[in-house]
Amino acid sequence: MPELSIGKLTLRKTPKMSINEFKELTAFIHDKTGIAIPVRRKYLIENKLGNRLKELHLSSYADYIKYLKFSPKKESEFKKLCELITVNETSFFRDIKQLTVFKNIILPEIIKKREKQGNKELKIWSAGCSTGEEPYTLGIILHEVLKVSIIGWRIQIYATDISPAVLIRARRGIYNQYSLRTTPDHIIEKYFIKQPDGYKIHPKVQKLVNFQLLNITDPKHTKKVPNSDIIFCRNVIIYFDDEVKRRVINNFYDKLKDDGYLFLGYSESIHRISKLFKSQIKPGGIVYIKN
Ligand SMILES: C[S@@+](CC[C@H](N)C(=O)[O-])C[C@H]1O[C@@H](n2cnc3c(N)ncnc32)[C@H](O)[C@@H]1O
Repeated sequence: MPELSIGKLTLRKTPKMSINEFKELTAFIHDKTGIAIPVRRKYLIENKLGNRLKELHLSSYADYIKYLKFSPKKESEFKKLCELITVNETSFFRDIKQLTVFKNIILPEIIKKREKQGNKELKIWSAGCSTGEEPYTLGIILHEVLKVSIIGWRIQIYATDISPAVLIRARRGIYNQYSLRTTPDHIIEKYFIKQPDGYKIHPKVQKLVNFQLLNITDPKHTKKVPNSDIIFCRNVIIYFDDEVKRRVINNFYDKLKDDGYLFLGYSESIHRISKLFKSQIKPGGIVYIKN
């Protein structure tokens, strides 16, 4: 690691990443996570990984890449890398128009169908759940729609992410006001418990959600996910290239029940990517069903 001495003070300068190091590192990240990082974001990777190099006392990115690939600690370092490179931006009730489609149209339809089939079971997968705001929002909506009859249902919200750090925060279930910036006040009053350290999600919502570390681009991981009635994967595939998006959509196709629904983020379309799903335009958003 290059050093800069000012009097008695020695500062460690973060090394510059060469273009070849950038290419090798981003190829590794792409291969393992599906995340495609364009060269214009090189400075971001340098910012995020510079401190990590210091912590590991490594003097170049070439050494860091070797460490990632060959060190006995490569698996835990990969987890650390995922924490550093993923974008975890989220909030409760994100994209309220789309959630209204879920609450008023899709959920009542599936509930009615399952009741008719005498199978009061609902499985929802929140893929790329970040710090938990999305799956807990879905849990709140289930309570709002089913009300007291929820006790007669077997509900599982399977919430997964590739970053261990976000899952620790998700399982804890305590949030600040910023996470609740798009949540109606009456919902905050009903489903959160104000504590000195923030707003704690109500246990009756928390118990519906099961958090797991999982890479959605890896079929070995996704095969562990139960077959779902609904999959939410919002603001995740935006970071993937077309080939990885296609792989992920194939995995979702396999994991979705025949009459199930897929919700993607507002700006994410699979129109060009896959013919496995057809889109249905609802007032407030697009939902995908199996072709
Ligand atoms: C921007 S957040 C979206 C959170 C939430 N779905 C929402 O819309 O508010 C994207 C999340 O996807 C996760 N992610 C990225 N690549 C992933 C992968 N290959 N497998 C699982 N999760 C991944 C990131 O760690 C991050 O927490």
